[in-house]
Amino acid sequence: MSDTSKSTPSAAASAPAPATRAAAPGAMVLAVTSGKGGVGKTFVSANLAAALTKRGYRVLVLDADLGLANLDVVLNLFPKTTLHDVFTGKAKLENAIHKAPGGFSVLLAGSGMVEYSRLTPQVRNEFLEVINSLVPKYDVMLLDTGAGISDVVLFAISLASEILVVATPEPTSLTDAYATIKVLAVQQNRDHVHLVINQAMRMGDGRAITAQLQQVLDRYVGTEVGKRMRLVHLGDIPIDASVREAVMRRQLLLLTAAGCPAAVAVSALAAKLDDALLKDS
Ligand SMILES: Nc1ncnc2c1ncn2[C@@H]1O[C@H](COP(=O)(O)OP(=O)(O)OP(=O)(O)O)[C@@H](O)[C@H]1O
Ligand SMILES: [Mg+2]
Repeated sequence: MSDTSKSTPSAAASAPAPATRAAAPGAMVLAVTSGKGGVGKTFVSANLAAALTKRGYRVLVLDADLGLANLDVVLNLFPKTTLHDVFTGKAKLENAIHKAPGGFSVLLAGSGMVEYSRLTPQVRNEFLEVINSLVPKYDVMLLDTGAGISDVVLFAISLASEILVVATPEPTSLTDAYATIKVLAVQQNRDHVHLVINQAMRMGDGRAITAQLQQVLDRYVGTEVGKRMRLVHLGDIPIDASVREAVMRRQLLLLTAAGCPAAVAVSALAAKLDDALLKDS
């Protein structure tokens, strides 16, 4: 697979296919997405960012869930300047970037972004410009997208060189994950996505789930697009009461309970991502 190169999105992103993912210096842009909502994308994005920062990378998390942004709530950050101000020309991009408790940078959507939850040419251009300006300044950019396959979500994903699909073991979450992955294969011509099974009852369950999902993809999607969509199982995160407690206290799990099973699992994901995508690049 030659598609793991770091990227700078181009104007080609106005098409449904992914933006040009030519090798270029700058951040590896990873879209964190899901079929079903509420499966843990924001939790994974924020804590993965903290774990990658700890490994020495310059990390930025962008709240790409324009309609229902909630990264600010999870991080307990309510900055005056947000992506909304950048899109409306009220603030410069650099003034909308803030430091999160985990030491990484964030660009929060802020309230008022609901008007941007429709993919207009303006939203496309603003989004693309923001990503292109930030790519040279970071090693990793995580795009915390909304759930599902709306055109805004798909556009945000098209700006990423790599995709991380978060799903839980529930059948509804897996069916929706399948639908999302199918769209990514058909519309964006993607040949692989990374998969994380969150809220796993037993660690290791994700391996069997991935194998089952792969079988269905090979049978239906592979034949439709004429090539294989490969699932890369990045790991599992166990269901852990500490996650909910951290969210309720608006604290980062990795900072307040680094030894709990879910935090250990997120740190292991960061190590795997580091080995698979970031080292030697
Ligand atoms: N591993 C876990 N163990 C226990 N609870 C979890 C775990 N992961 C997530 N949760 C719970 O699920 C809730 C939703 O998580 P999160 O907000 O990250 O989901 P999301 O996919 O970003 O949702 P949305 O689609 O609305 O953006 C968290 O507030 C937390 O209570
Ligand atoms: Mg979220």
